[in-house]
Amino acid sequence: MAVYKVLVLPDPVLRSKAKPVANINQGVIRLLDNMIDTMYEYNGVGLAAPQIGVSRRVVVFDVGEGPVELINPEIIEQEGEQLGLEGCLSIPDTQGQVRRANRVVVEALNRKGEMFRLQGVGLTARVIQHEIDHLDGILFIDRAESLLRNNGRI
Ligand code: NI
Repeated sequence: MAVYKVLVLPDPVLRSKAKPVANINQGVIRLLDNMIDTMYEYNGVGLAAPQIGVSRRVVVFDVGEGPVELINPEIIEQEGEQLGLEGCLSIPDTQGQVRRANRVVVEALNRKGEMFRLQGVGLTARVIQHEIDHLDGILFIDRAESLLRNNGRI
């Protein structure tokens, strides 16, 4: 088990566009394992590789149904709308109301290099969109309709 340090703003990696994974080798497998350990250690619902300083298109999340790994994820369908509160391990003590699609279908590779599709509705759809945004250097504060610091101030 290895836990990475989660980077916070204004670290420039968080604003960079991540590169696709070309080969799923031992390094990528180790990255996935350590990202999952890190997500649980920080009590996060999701984690994107740039948050631990690795500018690659890799995401993990767990909405309470076990860990899911997405390599080179692409949203291929989206539908509906939801408005809800988001936070991010990379932006401490901040939450915001963010409008997202209510249902998405994502296509990605698993750790065996197999392409698969996953549908997410509600919270799962929100997490998928939030984490894939990280791969493009987009943070929830860019999309938030209102922001709240935990000290009650904007
Ligand atoms: Ni985040």
